Amino acid sequence: MGVMDKIISLAKRRGFIFPGSEIYGGLAGTWDYGPLGVLLQHNVKELWWRMFIDARDDMYPMDAAIFMNPKAWEASGHVAGFADPLADGTKFNVMFKTSVGAGEEALTAYLRPETAGGMFVNFKNVMDSMHPKLPFGLGQIGKAFRNEIAPRDFIFRQREFKQMEVEYFVKPSEWENAFEEWRTLMHRYADEVGIVKDKLHELEVPSEERAHYSKRTIDFEFEYPFGRKELWGLAYRTDFDLSAHQKMSGVELMYTDEETGEKLTPHVIEPSLGVDRTILAILVSAYCEDEMGGEGRTYLALPSAIAPVKAMVSPLLKNKSELVAKAKEVRAELKKVTPHIAWDDNGNIGKRYRRQDEIGTPFCITIDFDTLGEKPELKDTVTLRHRDTGLQERLTIDEVKARLQKAIL
Ligand code: GAP
Repeated sequence: MGVMDKIISLAKRRGFIFPGSEIYGGLAGTWDYGPLGVLLQHNVKELWWRMFIDARDDMYPMDAAIFMNPKAWEASGHVAGFADPLADGTKFNVMFKTSVGAGEEALTAYLRPETAGGMFVNFKNVMDSMHPKLPFGLGQIGKAFRNEIAPRDFIFRQREFKQMEVEYFVKPSEWENAFEEWRTLMHRYADEVGIVKDKLHELEVPSEERAHYSKRTIDFEFEYPFGRKELWGLAYRTDFDLSAHQKMSGVELMYTDEETGEKLTPHVIEPSLGVDRTILAILVSAYCEDEMGGEGRTYLALPSAIAPVKAMVSPLLKNKSELVAKAKEVRAELKKVTPHIAWDDNGNIGKRYRRQDEIGTPFCITIDFDTLGEKPELKDTVTLRHRDTGLQERLTIDEVKARLQKAIL
């Protein structure tokens, strides 16, 4: 089995990602996130939110509607140009069309093909309500839809997916500095989520291949098992969008410099990250096979901040009530640090560890007779076992709490 098939199989078997509506034979280009996938996805978004919005003083969050007045997509050029070639050479617009409202009143609308549009059309609302100074940006996480002609490669190319996007408004002369700043942050984010550096590459997109709105684009490419392909994009969108929306709507979308009184249309730098492709790159980066204790094992070397389950607590024996009671107490204590603490008392300890290794749980904590005081000097200490190395330490419960706290930040 190739590594991609192994990852798809693990994702399904362990509750990360399932084929969409599988009992009906699926629906091409759709995937459903299961319990562990939801947690992993939450952590990926949360870290993006922290690094791209909360840690900065110049970023404002948005959550715009998926349906927009169709004029917005005319203005942005998507109605005319967001098309892929079919086998016969004709062009096929990949925006999903739907109708909003009933009967005569019904309006042909689109499911947004990118989250960006919802931010551009709110430029004036944010200016009027928040009074930001240039440079500033809007950021949002949300679903996007494209009727891809050939969805494929697991969650790489879907018809319904999620984006984490920033539209960063700058004075035209400042675009290069801002471009570099976001480029650096994207690399830092890749590092934090555990995307391996060796597999991440930048591609300067040549002008003939850039989107219609872009004057410079860098694709962040990743070496997936099926080839080196786009992970994220960083684009200089110039004043294309604000100018186009101003023209189409008749509403002025400009910025007035308080000091000089100069009126200008800000230019835009756009770091655009797909949530699902990020998750795929993380899974590919984390997937490991090795041998431990004379047996083959599979584990996900996920950074602790990203791992869906942070620790597993286990009584050495499940039929000893004193051990179970103490282990439950320890679990309750650790849950004060993070809710994502698993419990496993099934089978032997080695098997329990393997099950956690496979889902990327960084720590396993075992409660034994020494915890209860069989050796008085070890009372209230537990075994902490590390996922990647299998190494074990004897620590007090307070020390374990502190370790956990530090690891998940
Ligand atoms: N607003 C800019 C924009 O949408 P894009 O390069 O078309 O640019 C940005 O998309 C990111 O969205 C991609 O780099 C990728 O991570 C993700 N993405 C695009 N199409 C996708 C699809 N069909 N399935 C999964 N992710 C997709």
